[in-house]
Amino acid sequence: MMFTAMVALWLPPASAAPPRVLHDALVRAGPEAVVHRFESGSSARYFSVVRVGGAKNWPTRETFVFARRASPTHVGGNEHEWVSFWRDCDATLRGTEKQASGCFASSQNLTNVRSPRETNWAHNTALLWDAGAVYALGGRDNPTHHRVRDGAYSRTYETQSRLDAAARASAPSTRRLPPPEDLRGTPALRGAHAGCVEKRPQFAPNCEFDGRFSLARLGSTYHLFARANLVGEKGARGHFGGRFVQSAASTTSPRGPFGAFSVVDVPGFRAPFARALNVYFAAVTSNPADPDNSLVALFPLRDEGLAILGLGVSCDGKRFSRLAVLANTTDAGDFRTADHPADGVLVDDTSQTALFFVHRNVPSIGNVTGPSALTRIPITLSSLRAFTRSQLPAGCPRRP
Ligand SMILES: *[C@@H]1O[C@H](CO)[C@@H](O)[C@H](O)[C@H]1NC(C)=O
Ligand SMILES: *[C@@H]1O[C@H](CO)[C@@H](O)[C@H](O)[C@H]1NC(C)=O
Ligand SMILES: *[C@@H]1O[C@H](CO)[C@@H](O)[C@H](O)[C@H]1NC(C)=O
Repeated sequence: MMFTAMVALWLPPASAAPPRVLHDALVRAGPEAVVHRFESGSSARYFSVVRVGGAKNWPTRETFVFARRASPTHVGGNEHEWVSFWRDCDATLRGTEKQASGCFASSQNLTNVRSPRETNWAHNTALLWDAGAVYALGGRDNPTHHRVRDGAYSRTYETQSRLDAAARASAPSTRRLPPPEDLRGTPALRGAHAGCVEKRPQFAPNCEFDGRFSLARLGSTYHLFARANLVGEKGARGHFGGRFVQSAASTTSPRGPFGAFSVVDVPGFRAPFARALNVYFAAVTSNPADPDNSLVALFPLRDEGLAILGLGVSCDGKRFSRLAVLANTTDAGDFRTADHPADGVLVDDTSQTALFFVHRNVPSIGNVTGPSALTRIPITLSSLRAFTRSQLPAGCPRRP
């Protein structure tokens, strides 16, 4: 009798909700380590780690790190932004032999602030290496704003020399030029795109695309991830909160055309959405432990009692698994997390680890004052593979 009663005491009630996140699902192959500390006042944020090369038109293998920069003299940095990159990095983001002083020794600009359109493009740019080219997509849509903001444009760098030429053209010495050809054509995406969700009344029903984009390939499909603002209610400091992620797919190219958006599904973080639930963006990439079948996404997520960089997997870019905690973060105010994941993952073949990168202390986010630094978190490929197999949503192809 006594024994039965004790067992009953230990059983969780049948109605208990499953945990929203899995805390210890990923096995680290080593501690989180600082890769680079940025100089005080550096505006670099929205990092993308992009491994290129091995293609006929672009044979040299190397790793690029892209980041958004902003003029520190502009509050919030929203109006004078550009994309810059570091190159010659190895998988751990140390320098290669060619650049012994390290991969962060000197950066080049990919864009300049010479036109509002180019500045607008740099605000939320996603970068993807695919089949011999670097694809980039960026731009907000807000036609009523005093500056040109009329949608997202796609750019393609098919060779290393095209990227070099873009860097040369954006040097400060270059005289004022008209916006590049590709920003004068047809946008890849407008705010009125099918399915796009924007509840903030100053933009609704059109999406502004204020958060950063991410592009990822799975099989022959290109998935685009964008900011969805799910809550229109005004708080004491304005219209924000309820930031979330929506995705659209293209079976043609990373440039689109993209099908309709739908808000992604992350178990534990579903409608009805509250202002306090914020997924600032998704950084999505091919899953290095399961490249043919799934994507891996990193979500900077803040909810009541929770601030994490969550890792989830998906086989369709729409339904994600429950999240594992890649790293903990903190609430920096205004429902933003103080730290962001970098977009992209590198693989260290020798140690069989997936290397994820985290931007600690994102400058000009909320009340962040700590030193801005990029860190590396090594996760064993076997652990990521086990997580993927056990957590991929129902209906995904499963391998033995
Ligand atoms: C990049 O652009 C910024 C803004 O125009 C400029 O201040 C900076 O000097 C440029 N850097 C390089 C390496 O061209
Ligand atoms: C994050 O914090 C939780 C709760 O304190 C802890 O259990 C977990 O181990 C932490 N995870 C990581 C990856 O630091
Ligand atoms: C930053 O803001 C958050 C949310 O308002 C608050 O919980 C936290 O204590 C603040 N941190 C600092 C260092 O002021």
